Amino acid sequence: MKTNDPYLMIPGPVTVLPRVLKAMSQPLIPHRGKEFEEILNECVEGLKPLFGTGEDVLILSGTGTLGMEASISNFVSEEDVVLNIVNGKFGERFYEITKKYATPRLLEFEWGNSVDIEKVEEGIEGVNAITIVHNETSTGILNPVKEIAKIAHKEGALVIMDGITSVGGEYVEMDKWGVDVAVVGSQKCLGCPPGLCAVAVSERAWDKAKEVKNTPYYCDLLEYKKALEKGQTPYTPAVSLFLALRECVRIINEEGIDARVERHRRASTAVREAACALGIELFPEIVPPSKYSPTVTAMRMPNGITDSELRNGMKEYGVYVAGGQGRLKGKIFRMGTMGDFNFRNLLGAISILEGVLVSHGVIDKPGAGVGAAVEVLFG
Ligand SMILES: Cc1ncc(COP(=O)(O)O)c(C=O)c1O
Repeated sequence: MKTNDPYLMIPGPVTVLPRVLKAMSQPLIPHRGKEFEEILNECVEGLKPLFGTGEDVLILSGTGTLGMEASISNFVSEEDVVLNIVNGKFGERFYEITKKYATPRLLEFEWGNSVDIEKVEEGIEGVNAITIVHNETSTGILNPVKEIAKIAHKEGALVIMDGITSVGGEYVEMDKWGVDVAVVGSQKCLGCPPGLCAVAVSERAWDKAKEVKNTPYYCDLLEYKKALEKGQTPYTPAVSLFLALRECVRIINEEGIDARVERHRRASTAVREAACALGIELFPEIVPPSKYSPTVTAMRMPNGITDSELRNGMKEYGVYVAGGQGRLKGKIFRMGTMGDFNFRNLLGAISILEGVLVSHGVIDKPGAGVGAAVEVLFG
């Protein structure tokens, strides 16, 4: 029997645990007062270790892109040069945002290719800030933030990092790596519904923020910092989402960050092994495996099936996977392993994928993908 009960294996939003849905359906409370202050503080303190920071973490009502915009608009002025490292759609988004607030210097690599550190070194002169996406969701790779930050600091440039699909699913060490500003979105590895983002800010970045001209209004982070000292946000927060986020940080603490990262890494390895066993090429074909994202796997569309046939075929059984974005549309599909997924549902999704491939004659016999995934998950 087919099911319409949606199971999201897209790279966010993710399927949310019932306990989180229950938490967010609690009666509303006022956003000024002790009760909300406690919720806000628990969220902030819960996020700090996930960013790998002891610095300030500000939570904004809005999606990850608001966090990206805040992380640029608060820390650079028009005359500042920002080196935008782009190797996928979200690196490109940072570049688009930079164009509105500062002077961008584009350093682009083929989407899916790793960042060439030598090119970063060549392009760093006179740069005031660098943008980099830690986990490039559009291509399924991790970027070498630590190495990039080292180069940036030699030039005195701020490092602005999109950690939207890594924080909470992969180790992020903002303070140790020398990242100055980092962003996460609620609907990804944190296992929360969409609608909140958080920005972590270093002392160095605050010094710079105080000099910036034409700061934004709604996402003026100095205002968020001031409000946080009083246990508040400057404007009305999405209270129900904060209740959900508090539940998520509790869930993360119960699991423990090491176990959580291990679960994400193991699941993504299982997806990659399943793809290889089914003759599906990974996108990109990079080595070593540590450069592959642990939270999203991109695969080339196999011959004999179209993007919509594959995704609609899986959707009929309630499993949602994502297509390619921008220039990769129709060429790849992506499976997320983010948040509070479990191995039972992951294996279910892989077997539904096999079923769809068999029904389109792409493979003759099902089983190889699930078999390979089981070996990884139970090995
Ligand atoms: C790496 C990355 N950055 C930014 C975004 C944009 O976030 P949002 O859609 O929450 O605004 C996404 C969303 O998929 C993402 O994966």
